[in-house]
Amino acid sequence: MNLKPETLQQIDEVITHYPQKRSATLPLLHLIQEDVGHLPAGTTEWVAEKLGIEPINVYEVITFYPMFRQQPIGRRHIRVCRTLSCALTGGYKTCDTLKQEFNTGLNEISPDGEVTIEFVECLASCGTGPVVMVDDQLHEKVDCAKAKAIAAQIKAEATQR
Ligand code: FES
Repeated sequence: MNLKPETLQQIDEVITHYPQKRSATLPLLHLIQEDVGHLPAGTTEWVAEKLGIEPINVYEVITFYPMFRQQPIGRRHIRVCRTLSCALTGGYKTCDTLKQEFNTGLNEISPDGEVTIEFVECLASCGTGPVVMVDDQLHEKVDCAKAKAIAAQIKAEATQR
């Protein structure tokens, strides 16, 4: 597993917080995904060995939680809320606008490699829908015009790299 030295350090540290090593499965998976962007091939076996458990126990956790990604994503991660409050205020149109702006479908890497758009469950800001998260940043009341502005911002930031 090709992880940054600081991630490996954090992993060893996190394991010490749990009397039962297996309880560290979730935190370890989060740390790996944060480092790599997704859970690369070999994660299941690596984590299982690290925690002294069976690979199937890790695999069950990976496949149970939708936030774990087994495939790479674009450089920026866009999540659009699809739950009721946001759907009623136009979340589906917002999502379509973003897909058009980046010429991509859901859960794909856009042709420029810049984004992956996911349509997700509630992002916990139901009174200010439609809600969009770009990486860790929450955007509220994202109508089509605001979605276009967000897309323009992402594209502008990409040219500065
Ligand atoms: S319904 Fe969209 S944030 Fe809760």
